[in-house]
Amino acid sequence: MNSKKYTLARIPGDGIGPEVIYEASKVLEAAASKSNFAIEWIDYPFGADYYLRTNEILPDSALKEMASCDALFLGAVGDPRVKPGILERGILLTLRFYFDQYVNLRPAKRYPKVPLPIQIEAGKEFNTLVVRENTEDFYVGIGGITETGYIKEKLELQRNLYSFKGQISGNFNTKTRGAFQMGIASEPGIRRVTTYACKEAERRGDSSITLVSKSNALPQMYGFWEEVTRDEASIHNMKVSIMNVDAMCYHLVRNPSAFNVIVAPNMFGDIVSDLLAGLSGGLGVAAGADIGDSLSMFEPIHGSAPDIAGTGKANPIAALLSGALMLAHLGEREAAHSVERAVCSFLEKADSRNLPMEFGGNGTTFSVIEAICKQID
Ligand code: IPM
Ligand code: MG
Repeated sequence: MNSKKYTLARIPGDGIGPEVIYEASKVLEAAASKSNFAIEWIDYPFGADYYLRTNEILPDSALKEMASCDALFLGAVGDPRVKPGILERGILLTLRFYFDQYVNLRPAKRYPKVPLPIQIEAGKEFNTLVVRENTEDFYVGIGGITETGYIKEKLELQRNLYSFKGQISGNFNTKTRGAFQMGIASEPGIRRVTTYACKEAERRGDSSITLVSKSNALPQMYGFWEEVTRDEASIHNMKVSIMNVDAMCYHLVRNPSAFNVIVAPNMFGDIVSDLLAGLSGGLGVAAGADIGDSLSMFEPIHGSAPDIAGTGKANPIAALLSGALMLAHLGEREAAHSVERAVCSFLEKADSRNLPMEFGGNGTTFSVIEAICKQID
């Protein structure tokens, strides 16, 4: 009999979301049963189909219900039938903000047999961890657009950490279209994500972290980041090297193994983590987690890829590795390791028949999961 049970919310979402999430869940269940705990899934239908049918995106009642779950497993949102941004902001970003998931964790490492687009120097490792701030910067949702040239926009933002209220007005000149978007950085917002990055670095045995910045052009917000991150890191006895985002992209492509834990403001973290996903072999192995002090969420970095939905081409490994992060977050580290081990031993043994199609094989979403399930020890 299982001694422990976790209640996990699941939003499979759109496109390839449902196939990768339901398939990955099979491996998580197998690992759970080996480690003597059980998983109860609570499925939510949110996504494009549900929105088109009901006109509802993500009701408050569901958010309240999810709050009592142990974690949330999410596939992907986005669908060509729905205007870009509606589901992304309405589901994904709403969840991140509602549950104040201030860390977006995105490991990028080399997995066996996964072809890389670059050469890694012999004897060097490629194992970075992006700790992206997830609730501030240009993602706070303050902005406006004008068709007439004149802009008068109410600014309103209510967060646990602070609130903003006011108005901005501007004149682009009659009939000139224009838009603006504002970013925010707060000291507690920077400190908490930096603390997380330092603890992760310590756990990995690193003595420094790298901050992605851009203070040469945007000194207020990113100069502030540099100052606060340095101070917080010194409290954790961690050194900080600072690199502007453009230079960071350049160096990442040339020598990714030079980087360990990278802490990043929201938008730079978004960009740099996709770059790293590409460098580590593709979105098919890029896992992600949105972590906060209440409900945390686990989602692959990839989107809904509607063009390959239902074809069996989707690589389920990114969703599965995100599920492994979820098990680790629940404290089930042994089960998390067994999933990661199973992925690695599957990939090591894989040949052109069963390697995921993304890596040049003929393995389908289903055959890849079936083979990984057999490797759970
Ligand atoms: C991501 C995505 C989202 C983001 C989009 C879909 C809003 O790109 O999770 O990285 O920008 O955070
Ligand atoms: Mg992104």
